[in-house]
Amino acid sequence: MIHNPTIDAMLNRRSVRSYTKERPSQEVIETIVRAGMQAPFASQLHSVLLSKKPQGPFGAPLWLTICVDIHKLELFMAARGWKRKTNDLDMLMFGAQDAAYLAENMVIAAESLGLGSCFIGSAPYNADKIAEEFSLPPKVMPLVGLVMGFPAEDLPPRPRYPLSYSFFEGRYPELGPAELAEAMEAMDSGYLAQDYYRRAKAKLLLEDGREDSYTYDDYSWTEHISRKWGQWYETPEELLEQLRKRGFNPCP
Ligand SMILES: Cc1cc2nc3c(=O)[nH]c(=O)nc-3n(C[C@H](O)[C@H](O)[C@H](O)COP(=O)(O)O)c2cc1C
Repeated sequence: MIHNPTIDAMLNRRSVRSYTKERPSQEVIETIVRAGMQAPFASQLHSVLLSKKPQGPFGAPLWLTICVDIHKLELFMAARGWKRKTNDLDMLMFGAQDAAYLAENMVIAAESLGLGSCFIGSAPYNADKIAEEFSLPPKVMPLVGLVMGFPAEDLPPRPRYPLSYSFFEGRYPELGPAELAEAMEAMDSGYLAQDYYRRAKAKLLLEDGREDSYTYDDYSWTEHISRKWGQWYETPEELLEQLRKRGFNPCP
């Protein structure tokens, strides 16, 4: 593996869930957003909101929301005498990419300035409340929250799948029991070594009343993620409702 300051900053990044009260200066904030905006884009289908609330989740002094923004595009298309023909699903797919690449660029820029950050995934499900707080026009959809500030914790980076479970040259391989076991072991032993879920008190409950045989001694990432996607959001209605309220109709 090659190392240089950029690669090392990326490899050492981890989500931060405890912050000092110190508020980064306006210059720092604007530098981070501007660096974020230099990410590749399909059509700059994004906006960044900064809450006026003094604290966000985890006591973070900065609480940002990254939005998919089709409103601004439509404004200048109208100024040029154009009307959008492209459907909302395609626009949301491109917009989610524009917003996500911007957001991750902001994370790396923040890291380089000594700030930590953590994404907050609930934003799309609170889109109506966020829309009210920020007087969002239609066609602006909160994609993800992003809290930032100076870290009050210094924890090691979290594990990732082995490269052999993620990077496929030429052909997607058959992922058999050996590859699966290696990937699950890398993730689960990595999180257990950090006592990650016990420290975060983040064990998800079994919703069907089944007896839970896991304790924080063996509850780790693959069980956690299985419990999320094995129990949550069976129908798309909640998200579709929020999208509709924001002026999108991705499934006409
Ligand atoms: C779309 C998205 C939503 C997330 N939502 C949350 C969240 O609501 N709360 C939280 O503590 N972390 C959240 N995270 C952070 C992930 O839990 C974290 O990135 C992941 O566990 C890997 O850990 P690391 O960032 O420390 O490497 C989210 C990350 C993403 C990309």
